[in-house]
Amino acid sequence: MAKDSSGTSVVVVGVGASRGTGAAIARRFAREGLHAFVAGRTLERLEIVAKEIREAGGQATPVVTDATREDDVIHLLDLAIEQGGPLDAVVYNAGRNEFRGLLDMDGAFFEEVWRLCCFTGFTVGREAARRMLERGSGSILFTGATASMRARPPFTAFASAKAALRAVAHGMAREFGPKGIHVGHVVIDGMIDGDMVNERFPAAKKNVGEEGMLDPEAIADAFFMIHAQPRRAWTLELDLRPHIEKF
Ligand SMILES: NC(=O)c1ccc[n+]([C@@H]2O[C@H](COP(=O)([O-])OP(=O)(O)OC[C@H]3O[C@@H](n4cnc5c(N)ncnc54)[C@H](OP(=O)(O)O)[C@@H]3O)[C@@H](O)[C@H]2O)c1
Repeated sequence: MAKDSSGTSVVVVGVGASRGTGAAIARRFAREGLHAFVAGRTLERLEIVAKEIREAGGQATPVVTDATREDDVIHLLDLAIEQGGPLDAVVYNAGRNEFRGLLDMDGAFFEEVWRLCCFTGFTVGREAARRMLERGSGSILFTGATASMRARPPFTAFASAKAALRAVAHGMAREFGPKGIHVGHVVIDGMIDGDMVNERFPAAKKNVGEEGMLDPEAIADAFFMIHAQPRRAWTLELDLRPHIEKF
């Protein structure tokens, strides 16, 4: 039986621009009746996304969160349960593709990339699992990248962190699946057509065209599809790419 998530809450960690993956995932889950707690570091951006959700008839609460701070994560998840109802989904979407040649990487750079793209996913996943185990249900979903599967310079630090995040997700799936918690990892194999890429690398879209980039709304559909799966047929890992992507 597919699950009914109405009256529950979803926490999306890593929401920035309205035209971005985190925002699209929050909107998608909210459309299905979950109260969306949108978490990122910039209140103005979170308020825009929360307003969009409310204007579409959903429920949303912006929560300024630096997910690299454990206290912020604990506060965020407790707030979601207190104000939004049982925690039915937590998405760890924060991640930023910082790149350098290996010889130019000092330890601080490598560690910072690892902290956001791996360690913080572990903290969020652990805290989500602790709370979901009480009910014996819920899904914990992680956003991966091409780099989760393949390390290419100058993305070696990012790839090592994303590969490790993937391992965290796989380990969690095996530990918590039998206890009713569905853990999923989505490999985004290509560039996302959102503000993150379009503002940092304006030439990218000119090079590959719109068809060569992933649509954040379609990515969000895939996240919700995993969340809604009946427990007798669960996906651990899904890869998504534009149809013209070379891989
Ligand atoms: N963009 C791509 O082409 C691409 C390709 C493959 C995979 N991915 C993966 O997809 C995910 C989403 O990427 P996106 O580019 O579409 O970005 P997005 O979902 O639009 O935004 C993610 C947001 O996370 C927030 N964030 C960063 N550090 C944070 C922290 N410490 N605590 C809380 N929030 C934080 C940032 O907003 P604030 O700065 O306002 O906090 C950022 O805007 C990432 O995991 C990325 O690695 C992206």
